[in-house]
Amino acid sequence: MTKPEFDQYAEGYDRVLGESIPEGLNEDSYFAEYKVALMAARLGEKRPARILDFGCGAGRSLPYLEKHFPEAELWGYDVSPASLKVASGRVPRAKLFSDWSAITGIHFDAIIAANVFHHIPPEQRQSALAQCHDALAVGGQMFLFEHNPYNPATRWIFERCPFDADAEMLNLKTALALTAQAGFSTEQHGYTLFFPRPLAFLRGLEPWLIRLPLGAQYYVQMA
Ligand SMILES: C[S@@+](CC[C@H](N)C(=O)[O-])C[C@H]1O[C@@H](n2cnc3c(N)ncnc32)[C@H](O)[C@@H]1O
Repeated sequence: MTKPEFDQYAEGYDRVLGESIPEGLNEDSYFAEYKVALMAARLGEKRPARILDFGCGAGRSLPYLEKHFPEAELWGYDVSPASLKVASGRVPRAKLFSDWSAITGIHFDAIIAANVFHHIPPEQRQSALAQCHDALAVGGQMFLFEHNPYNPATRWIFERCPFDADAEMLNLKTALALTAQAGFSTEQHGYTLFFPRPLAFLRGLEPWLIRLPLGAQYYVQMA
């Protein structure tokens, strides 16, 4: 059996990602945190007791999940065991697994999938999302973040990132169709990451721009 693709990038994941982004646009921790911060803001008073980071990889979101949801039980799933090993060094208390049957009977109050679905072959995406739907607790919420293929900077980086070589971006329309096919209802969706570092002072405007298909990424909040 061939090794999962991301096993080869596990140790150097952050470095390879950083090298694919032009110096002026790179904000490593901001990119890693903004998704979790958005999820926390959207959940508001709803404090999830158990969170799953679906496709957690080397665990870039896990420290921020710990920061924004200190009281939550944290779980991470990925098909790459080598990535999970790196992730376990980042947040030792997270429960990490690469065999989905490990969570039989367990449900999550919140699930995040950050930049995962463009790595899943299109014909497998619906069943992967349906798996998440089945694992969500009653009243739970899922947040999917993806690259926006219409943003030129996103496309430039995507075409240069070694671990995106076999990936296929999905646009928001496709993601929304997938959401419905997997049994979810969409609560909210929007584009994000409009302003690079030199224009960071404008980021407070982003919540008013979510319908503009120009942001570097987008999210879908579903239930
Ligand atoms: C670009 S990385 C993103 C990792 C992490 N979510 C982050 O934001 O840093 C994509 C991850 O998706 C994982 N992946 C690919 N196919 C998957 C699948 N079918 N189920 C779960 N994870 C998968 C890869 O192993 C890889 O770790």
